[in-house]
Amino acid sequence: MNLKDYIASIPDYPKEGIVFRDISPLMADGDAYREATKQIVNYAKEKQIDMVVGPEARGFIVGCPVAFELGLGFAPVRKPGKLPREVIEVEYEKEYGTDTLTIHSDAINPGQRVLITDDLLATGGTIKATIELVEQLGGIVVGCAFLIELEELHGRDKIQGYDILTLMDY
Ligand code: PRP
Ligand code: HPA
Repeated sequence: MNLKDYIASIPDYPKEGIVFRDISPLMADGDAYREATKQIVNYAKEKQIDMVVGPEARGFIVGCPVAFELGLGFAPVRKPGKLPREVIEVEYEKEYGTDTLTIHSDAINPGQRVLITDDLLATGGTIKATIELVEQLGGIVVGCAFLIELEELHGRDKIQGYDILTLMDY
């Protein structure tokens, strides 16, 4: 199965000159979604993880089935004001200006081996901020898994030294 057959490419979305890579056809196909999940589960097994962490919203779509399959927990990373208990937060750079991500302060126990999941690695701002949150709580980021990497944006340069799995490159 070629997973790229299940990615829709939408020209000029959300603005002119950008080709948006849409994972929703992959999610809509049971076999493709299972195959992508399996590949990340195999990676997670190699890394002997204790926990999965993913940023909203599409990091949940990728990470939750992986955690479920392994019988492990999943901790959500969210935009400010969404998590109801004590949080820590990290500011990160977006294409224009900055944004903030948060995680519950008790989401990870120090020393836990964490896999971070997201649908797509673009500029790397989101993954870098998520790594910082996990590490502030004492977690060890043993891998970062994405369905898609947009190579021309060089996101992996922002997270040098971390192990990265990407299932599809554009
Ligand atoms: C998208 C995507 C990644 C992030 C990648 O999420 O799902 O999380 O951008 O970009 P980066 O590598 O440049 O940080 P978005 O911020 O659009 O949020 P959403 O998943 O809630 O739509
Ligand atoms: N697709 C989905 N999410 C994104 C993209 C994309 O091409 N670029 C930045 N976030």
